Amino acid sequence: MKNIIEVQKGDITKLNVDSIVNAANRTLLGGGGVDGAIHRAAGPLLLEECKSLNGCETGDAKITKGYKLNAKYVIHTVGPVWRGGNAGEVELLSSCYKRSLEIASENELHSIAFPAISTGIYGFPFEKASKIALETVQNYLAENPNRFQKIVFILYSDDDYIRFNKIKESIINE
Ligand code: AR6
Repeated sequence: MKNIIEVQKGDITKLNVDSIVNAANRTLLGGGGVDGAIHRAAGPLLLEECKSLNGCETGDAKITKGYKLNAKYVIHTVGPVWRGGNAGEVELLSSCYKRSLEIASENELHSIAFPAISTGIYGFPFEKASKIALETVQNYLAENPNRFQKIVFILYSDDDYIRFNKIKESIINE
């Protein structure tokens, strides 16, 4: 499992993988944060395709092409807004990771990169979110062992990168 999961620091729009995941909102029509960066890098045809998708529910995901990105596809998922923890946030965030992996798998994609969904504008506590991300991916890989060649978690700041690695070391010890 260790050699499938990679942790990197940097900008998800630069990655050369089959698919990158976008932390979108339910309209799928763009926004700030990583969503804005992905739309800027992919170019206007991404928004045109997104307009045809009729939005997306929180916890679910939808796929588009990657246009000018190096990544062939973008999987748009909608994380929960953090409302204190009693509004199903944990299950919804876990579902974002699981649905993204399922959609990548259905499309026969072998590599996927995730940003730290919901931990920016949507306010999900970083450590809790990182644990959910790692555990959900780990469970998926345990049930579907040969599905992916590479799963990347990409963190944008030095601080997030350091914190994520510490959490990973504490829960993945294989
Ligand atoms: N590459 C990788 N990670 C990034 C990048 C990048 N280029 N840019 C930001 N991040 P956020 P959310 C990190 O706010 O909390 C949008 O307006 C960022 O540091 O992008 O799920 C959508 O349209 C943080 O760690 O997403 C929604 O309305 C992480 O990506 C809303 O924001 C997620 O932060 C979604 O909020």
